Amino acid sequence: AKMNVIVVKDRLEGGQQGYQVFKEAYENGAKVYGLATGSTPVTTYDAIIKSDLDFSQMTSINLDEYVGLEPTHPQSYHYFMQTHLFDQKPFAQSYVPNGMNADAADEMARYDQIIADNPIDLQILGLGQNGHIGFNEPGTDPAMGTHKVTLTESTIKANARFFEHETDVPRYAYSMGIASIMKSHQILLEAYGEEKAAAVKAMIEGPVTTDVPASFLQNHNHVTVILDEASASLL
Ligand code: GLP
Repeated sequence: AKMNVIVVKDRLEGGQQGYQVFKEAYENGAKVYGLATGSTPVTTYDAIIKSDLDFSQMTSINLDEYVGLEPTHPQSYHYFMQTHLFDQKPFAQSYVPNGMNADAADEMARYDQIIADNPIDLQILGLGQNGHIGFNEPGTDPAMGTHKVTLTESTIKANARFFEHETDVPRYAYSMGIASIMKSHQILLEAYGEEKAAAVKAMIEGPVTTDVPASFLQNHNHVTVILDEASASLL
């Protein structure tokens, strides 16, 4: 299916557009929201916070979490969600993978059960510079559900800016799989900045390949992509 691609001036305008997608889904009865971390969704979360949308009866399910970080660690995705959205817009239930569960098989099964019990109506995604979604790095088997990921060098480098030392960046994460993401009824992917331009082009115009995890979204029938002029520059 063809993706609905919206090009805006900058990430601020992108956040307004992203909010509109949330609002429309909300008005159409969406109850379960798949959420993402990273700098990309922040302007959308800001617009949601400023709005009167009420999520206190809704469920959220996050994509991923670093293995080994406590929920209170400032670089954990738990903490990110708390400060960037949940403190201001609480949900009835918010699920994030438990990075402190040392039993990977147990955590994978637990999280897949949560997703099965709460089918995601709208999933928001960012995009890695190497085309990853969630923490599904290039080469990931698209049939996998939640799994433990060994982060690539490029992702560790890209995320090192958030940590004091590059060696502080966790080497593993738990992530929803591409199969879990593809089950969402609707997907909203945002990408901003010229460092995302090559991944954006490969996602939209390239072949569907495990080399570019986001390219599998070409097989989904309800995807909205919001880009700024820089990330859209190679299209
Ligand atoms: C991390 C996250 C992804 C996110 C990506 C891009 O690797 N696991 O979900 O999309 O970073 O981050 P940013 O939005 O900061 O560019």
